Amino acid sequence: MSNKFIAGLIENKDKPIKYLYLRFVGFIEKAFTYYYLKKHGVQTKYGYVKLIGLPIIRKHPFSSIVIGQGVTLVSKTSGNILGINHPTILATLHKDAKIKIGKNSGLSGASIIAVDSITIGENVGIGANCYVYDSDFHAINSKLRKMQKGIQDLRKAKYSPIKIGNDVFIGLGVSILKGVTIGSEAAVGAGSIVTKDIKRKTIVAGNPAKFIKNIV
Ligand SMILES: CC(C)(COP(=O)(O)OP(=O)(O)OC[C@H]1O[C@@H](n2cnc3c(N)ncnc32)[C@H](O)[C@@H]1OP(=O)(O)O)[C@@H](O)C(=O)NCCC(=O)NCCS
Repeated sequence: MSNKFIAGLIENKDKPIKYLYLRFVGFIEKAFTYYYLKKHGVQTKYGYVKLIGLPIIRKHPFSSIVIGQGVTLVSKTSGNILGINHPTILATLHKDAKIKIGKNSGLSGASIIAVDSITIGENVGIGANCYVYDSDFHAINSKLRKMQKGIQDLRKAKYSPIKIGNDVFIGLGVSILKGVTIGSEAAVGAGSIVTKDIKRKTIVAGNPAKFIKNIV
């Protein structure tokens, strides 16, 4: 028995059954989450991730999805008071694609779709129903587009990595497009389409997202 467990029992000595029950439920939840993520090829550790509803994970077998400690993924409508319109989706669509989510970050009904690389820093809050995708998926030139034969040809469309720094706040319903780097402690207004880099400690908003003010 661990010291933490014994300390918990002593602290809850007037209601030990409730304490043991909550410990048991917590263990089952963590074990299931770990199993579910591992089954889908996600690199994480036992107890690192909290799932509220089940995310959709589509991982190319040779790609990587790494999730840090204290990350929450919300995938059911009632899991966020604003209402989630679809489960969180994590997808790596190419053998070299990478998704990394830093510790203590939270995603609610977000679609994170990587053909190249999407890095989300630590303590990042991604508001309900956001899209982060590092590719156009389809070539813009119609001749090239007709030549695309499906998922194996995704890299015929433009793609470029996305980097979101630490402590960034992203509002409801934002889309972040290929090649964008967001500096640490920046904020993005609700409903924005982010097409260009955002400097650290600034607020941007709109379509396309433009500088609004510095964060003091
Ligand atoms: C970005 C945000 C945080 C800025 O708040 P703020 O500092 O109080 O900014 P203000 O309300 O003073 O707005 C400053 C300017 O930006 C504009 N603006 C603010 N948010 C905007 C948005 N989402 N889209 C477009 N323009 C926006 C305002 O109209 C205003 O323009 P003006 O100077 O021409 O009048 C806030 O507007 C926002 O989008 N909040 C939503 C956060 C959210 O989605 N939370 C839920 C997460 S699940």
